[in-house]
Amino acid sequence: MRVVNPKKQITVGILGLGVVGSGMVRVLTENAADIARKVGLPVVIKRVAVRDLSKSRDVEIDPALLTDRPEDVIDDPEIDILCELIGGVEPAHGYVLRAIQSGKNIVTANKEMMAKAGHDLLHEAEDRKLDFNFEGSVGGGIPIIQPLKQALAANHFTEVMGIVNGTTNYILSKMTAEDADFGDVLAEAQAHGYAEPDPTNDIEGYDAQYKTAILSSIAFTSRVLPESIYVEGITKISRRDIAVARDLGYVVKIVGIGQDLGEALQVRVHPVLLPKGHPLASVNDVYNAIYLKGSAVGDVMFYGRGAGSLPTGSAVVGDIMEIARNIVHGATGHIGCTCYDQKPTLSIDRLRTKYYIRLIAHDRPKVLASLASVFGDFNVSIESVVQRALPGGDAEIVWITHQTLEANLRSALDVIQRLHIVSGIENWIRVEE
Ligand SMILES: NC(=O)c1ccc[n+]([C@@H]2O[C@H](COP(=O)([O-])OP(=O)(O)OC[C@H]3O[C@@H](n4cnc5c(N)ncnc54)[C@H](OP(=O)(O)O)[C@@H]3O)[C@@H](O)[C@H]2O)c1
Repeated sequence: MRVVNPKKQITVGILGLGVVGSGMVRVLTENAADIARKVGLPVVIKRVAVRDLSKSRDVEIDPALLTDRPEDVIDDPEIDILCELIGGVEPAHGYVLRAIQSGKNIVTANKEMMAKAGHDLLHEAEDRKLDFNFEGSVGGGIPIIQPLKQALAANHFTEVMGIVNGTTNYILSKMTAEDADFGDVLAEAQAHGYAEPDPTNDIEGYDAQYKTAILSSIAFTSRVLPESIYVEGITKISRRDIAVARDLGYVVKIVGIGQDLGEALQVRVHPVLLPKGHPLASVNDVYNAIYLKGSAVGDVMFYGRGAGSLPTGSAVVGDIMEIARNIVHGATGHIGCTCYDQKPTLSIDRLRTKYYIRLIAHDRPKVLASLASVFGDFNVSIESVVQRALPGGDAEIVWITHQTLEANLRSALDVIQRLHIVSGIENWIRVEE
């Protein structure tokens, strides 16, 4: 039976017309006829709030739609769906809350707001039977949030691992492909617009931290706040680490990892050595991928463009269309917040994994044995060790450990770095099999 709705159109108000805002406007206007057919009614933009009305825009838009007063969008009673594309926590959070309280459905791509305050916002929307979608907040154009909440909802997930930041994946891929230094590749990425003028959020892992918080919260149905996630960026990774890892059969990536250990979760963002055959090892350049282990489905991986104007615009418009269909059919599809548990998150000291350690020591008899003995004192057992003589009487020694407790490894390294036979610990990186 076809539903007849007295509405003539579904009305959208937008906050923000930057990279994502202009992409979603382009997708919505260029595919308008197709979208109207799929939804059942035309989806029309009513008002767009920006900060600076004099700025030129990357998309054609009727200037009469623009306003620099967000309240013109938030308080317009004709707007069915408010699309927040400003970014950051405030004022975006306050605007979204007010829009929910005035009865609007919400679409956002704001990872920081969702990671820090998503729980309360989702409850506010649920209490009023409003829809609230945020697919664009993780993985840009890759569908992951709706699949986790719907198509894969029958699974219990024990692990989620993702390459969720395109900038750092681009930098590490380039360093690997061209045997280049971090600083040079970062400068090139900034020149091409793949990295921000201030790249801190990406290279220090904070962007991945927000996305990993959202992914883990949904996958493990337990709220994970960003501050409970251990974060380490890529600034310590050198071309030498990448070359040594390659010789050992590994690729260096930065990943967000969440694990459900039963009574507690372990959630972290840091560089890792992945075996070359790992599904995430061949995800290169600005591409993202999210890999999950489900109790029924087994291993699944989602792959695609994790950012950018049109890919993220695609996710935002998909969210709008889902809500628009619900409005047309007089329904709500809102699943609400799915964090039913409050599992604690373990500190990084409690992690058990394998480690790569690269250090420089004097190239003399008994040095290797002395270092191995310190590892042994802290219960760190060694899987392999490779020594290479350097000019000037030193040697580079690369160790791969068996699975070990991170607290023990840190204690061993603390002792080793103070030995007079050691010139320096160049780097140590976790290894994921
Ligand atoms: N960029 C991506 O590829 C990407 C991918 C996934 C998710 N996201 C998320 O999407 C959101 C938007 O990111 P973006 O890259 O599109 O940001 P952006 O390019 O900086 O655009 C932000 C927009 O918000 C407007 N704005 C800022 N403060 C405002 C205020 N107080 N009132 C009204 N408008 C205001 C700005 O207006 P003016 O233009 O006048 O300055 C601008 O149009 C963020 O949450 C981001 O994390 C981005």
